[in-house]
Amino acid sequence: MKAKLFADGRDPVGEIDRRLFGSFIEHLGRAVYGGVYEPGHPTADDMGFRGDVLGMVKELGVPIVRYPGGNFVSGYDWEDGTGPRQLRPRRLDLAWSSIETNEVGIDEFQEWARRSGAEVMLAVNLGTRGVSEARDLIEYCNFPGGTKLSDRRRANGFEKPFGIKYWCLGNEMDGPWQIGAKTAEEYGRLAAETAKVLKAVDPTVELTVCGSSHSGMPTFGKWEETVLEHTYGLVDYISLHSYYGNRNGDTAEYLACSKDMDGFIATVADICDKVKARLGSEKTMKLSFDEWNVWFHSNEQDKKTEKWQVAPPLLEDVYTFEDALVVGCLLITLLRHADRVKMACLAQLVNVIAPIMTETGGRCWAQTIFYPMLHASRFARGESLRAAVECPELEAGKYGSVPALEAAVAFDEASGEATVLAVNRSLSEDMELECGLRGCGGLTLAEHTVLYSGDLKAVNTADAPDAVKPSSLPVAGGAPILPKHSWNVLRYKKTEG
Ligand code: AHR
Repeated sequence: MKAKLFADGRDPVGEIDRRLFGSFIEHLGRAVYGGVYEPGHPTADDMGFRGDVLGMVKELGVPIVRYPGGNFVSGYDWEDGTGPRQLRPRRLDLAWSSIETNEVGIDEFQEWARRSGAEVMLAVNLGTRGVSEARDLIEYCNFPGGTKLSDRRRANGFEKPFGIKYWCLGNEMDGPWQIGAKTAEEYGRLAAETAKVLKAVDPTVELTVCGSSHSGMPTFGKWEETVLEHTYGLVDYISLHSYYGNRNGDTAEYLACSKDMDGFIATVADICDKVKARLGSEKTMKLSFDEWNVWFHSNEQDKKTEKWQVAPPLLEDVYTFEDALVVGCLLITLLRHADRVKMACLAQLVNVIAPIMTETGGRCWAQTIFYPMLHASRFARGESLRAAVECPELEAGKYGSVPALEAAVAFDEASGEATVLAVNRSLSEDMELECGLRGCGGLTLAEHTVLYSGDLKAVNTADAPDAVKPSSLPVAGGAPILPKHSWNVLRYKKTEG
């Protein structure tokens, strides 16, 4: 099959924000305990953080990590996770029917984030709590000193403020499963009042208000409108969440699910612009896709998990090669909306629906989805260019038909390099891809990296960590060939001479 892609350096969609390659750590399952934190582990550092996991997080280049939830945050008392460890209470975590020991809290997590090179995106509890606790939390985290809570932080050993810039006003507050779920009116008012106090304590913070939990929610659309009418002038981002899965075994349909994400983003952007016009605002609302991933493999297993354990294995999806292709398509979609989507969090980072897996007390390894994330974070720099594609269409079940080629183009003027990230969705045919990159100053294909497996269901495990891993294809001078069902990174550099 033949395909063509055209892009022009003078026709950008928007600047690619590094925070598009963010992630998420929730107090859930083995994400924290046995994931990022395990004092007895052979690689543990002075604070009990696993060095092997830190190394992989650094390799991924994660710029921002959302914390501490997720559903967990809606029942969480942040004070429980601060101060001397021996005084910290064990509590019921009603979101995940587990026991939370509070060994790790914001004191430790902000330090873990610093060591991994990431910023913290901190969520406040607007389920069981509200304005007063959010005010206390930001005073504890960001106020220099000389007040009750800033001095408590200093007494706990953290002289300097944490300087947390990104804050989420609760989590999925439209979801009936959420502790303290609210109507759009109730939440909109509470979010506005919480936003006021957060910005009063620290005017430099940037705030995300909850959009719908997913585009299939019965209140989707109306929820965004109502919430934004209350908060438009006070917040900087509205959140989007979406998870996908190959539930009916139809891979062609599954590989097309980025079409859903694409429509979701476009619809939320339209709603924001409608509210902007109605309110006569000058501000364009940015989008934070702060939970996205594949999540379905572990659903049945999780129903069997015994309640009230400390850090039980939960949401431990073992990702197949085809899941990596889907994650690639979703990353491409985020890049194509780089004008509006300024932050995004792959949910999550370690053990819980995650690119990084660990054995408690043992090894850690990269799941298949690690690689598209790594490539996008490393190479999608500069501006996302509008890309026109000519290629055959494929039948994709409930998504109708989709182009065989899913692609995004990043052009980094500073280095003069361009990167094409591309998935060949065809399950049967290789694709010869002609790339016409104009206005980029004369580029030639210098590297072609591919993630390919003949087995769509291939997985990486502790014993076979490299079953699915990227490899280099020779660059022959002609049009690159994208193998059937593959993820590709085409790196274009300045033509010699
Ligand atoms: O990421 C797992 C869960 O998915 C989060 O806790 C919640 O926000 C979402 O429903």
